[in-house]
Amino acid sequence: MDGADSLENVNVAAIKSKIPSRRFDAVIIGAGGSGMRASLQLAEAGLNVAVLSKVFPTRSHTVAAQGGIGASLGNMSEDSWYWHMFDTVKGGDYLGDQDAIEFMCREAPKVVYELEHFGMPFDRNPDGTIYQRPFGGHTANFGEKPVQRACAAADRTGHAMLHTLYQRNVRAKTHFFVEWMAIDLIRDAEGDVVGVVALEMETGDVMILEAKTTILATGGAGRIWAASTNAFINTGDGMGMAARAGLPLEDMEFWQFHPTGVAGAGVLITEGVRGEGGILINSNGERFMERYAPTLKDLAPRDFVSRSMDQEIKEGRGVGPNKDHVLLDLRHIGAETIQKRLPSILEIGHKFANVDATKEPIPVVPTIHYQMGGIPTNIYGQVVAPRNGNPNEIVNGLYAIGECACVSVHGANRLGTNSLLDLLVFGRAAGNHVVDSKLKARSHKDLPADAADFAVSRLARLETSTGTERVQDVANAIRAAMQNYCGVFRTDELLQQGFNAIMELDERRKHVSFKDKSKVFNTARVEALELDNLIETAKATITSAVARKESRGAHAHRDYPNRDDETWMKHTLWFSEGNQLQYKPVITKPLSVETFKPKARTF
Ligand code: FUM
Repeated sequence: MDGADSLENVNVAAIKSKIPSRRFDAVIIGAGGSGMRASLQLAEAGLNVAVLSKVFPTRSHTVAAQGGIGASLGNMSEDSWYWHMFDTVKGGDYLGDQDAIEFMCREAPKVVYELEHFGMPFDRNPDGTIYQRPFGGHTANFGEKPVQRACAAADRTGHAMLHTLYQRNVRAKTHFFVEWMAIDLIRDAEGDVVGVVALEMETGDVMILEAKTTILATGGAGRIWAASTNAFINTGDGMGMAARAGLPLEDMEFWQFHPTGVAGAGVLITEGVRGEGGILINSNGERFMERYAPTLKDLAPRDFVSRSMDQEIKEGRGVGPNKDHVLLDLRHIGAETIQKRLPSILEIGHKFANVDATKEPIPVVPTIHYQMGGIPTNIYGQVVAPRNGNPNEIVNGLYAIGECACVSVHGANRLGTNSLLDLLVFGRAAGNHVVDSKLKARSHKDLPADAADFAVSRLARLETSTGTERVQDVANAIRAAMQNYCGVFRTDELLQQGFNAIMELDERRKHVSFKDKSKVFNTARVEALELDNLIETAKATITSAVARKESRGAHAHRDYPNRDDETWMKHTLWFSEGNQLQYKPVITKPLSVETFKPKARTF
């Protein structure tokens, strides 16, 4: 033991006595699309709402979403929420909960029109309606042909959405705590969540935010991979907090590789490029998706396209000196349409691949993009966990929404555009549910005497540790292990190697320290706290992936190449304590329509 976990040199009581506390009706952690959609609902209903964000709200990762929001408006041709529901169930390889999927697809047009009325600058059709483009896996008439369902603001839909929501929140008087990081949840003796301990990043000051309701909206943990389309802030903070508070994480083995990350850079090239007519080609100049998905071709769901690309590369038809990527060709779309519909892609092509996309194809490779799993919730965003034999017992005072949550609407593979939709639908639903719970009239529960002890001890450990590990070395090693052992195709052997590596890194993580304690910047403190969240998410992912002996959606297992509905049509629940797994049934009964029964997935 090198003193890593020792607190003996730290006067915890002194730190605790200085911790100020503020009270809010609701505290929302994360100012992305779901957090700000929920806060808007609450603030407009007159609740006292605080939103904490590690970055300025309009820099949250939602800003990077490009292609569109899925909703069956039917502006381009006939469409229906029921077709959208079918596509989402099938796209998710039948692991999604069909009640939640029906709810989301029915609500979709409403949340898009609301956003339009908030002032969102959507692209327009000549008749003034919202422009919609095709996206992967979205079809008309139960898979018959592609349909244009993605409501787009050029290729900057997330950017436009985030700015629209921020402006509405300012008007509604939401309190923003900018550059604040939530450290840990506070649970009382009954297990209810009564607030959060947070750190101001600039000063290092700690504060308790008491809340009648706490909403986790912290986004995903895409930064546990080396090559990722995710922002650096996406370190799984909500999942880390939930795991440390004894709550499970659901379906963490399912991670989406977006087919078109810029090779070598990881930056996202929207699926909207293929929606506008772009095609993938291999070293022979062949449009290879015609072989894998004869109906939807380049617009098959992402798990399908990513696997096909990986296959092409593995069989020697990759491009470049190392034959390690393929090409995305959009030259035939024409410069005028590219400039109008895909202006950011032109810029990304220039900056990150050194190509003029109107004249040359862009080198692309499947790149980690999205986690289908997360903190388990019901359709109102309430966090649920197994208790007294009920797998879905509500955790009072805690909600989770957006990418950090698992409702589960995305099953084993999310359809493009359903993420922005998820943020809006479940951010709004959680907000409404909190308002309807008559929260305003209730008083705060008492804080437990040890409310801040756990969070303070985590901070104190960093200050006193005499360990020799550096935060960045351990974080980079986590990313390398996930990249090497938990890729597009998995095997028992690779996953076991990944499991061993991550468990070893969990031990190393306990011994991180700051080399020169007189010169510690608060950014280093934040990175060290983030490391604790990265490791929880990585452990959840690799442990859940080792256990699942089938191929389903984004979990493509070479040793078990088929989907096994008999044994594995169930949700994984991972618990940090003891690195344990449990399982719970998939909800196959929708709210009002017939169940979509599992079928072979062809496109
Ligand atoms: O390709 C994209 O524009 C990404 C959209 C999404 O992940 O939904």
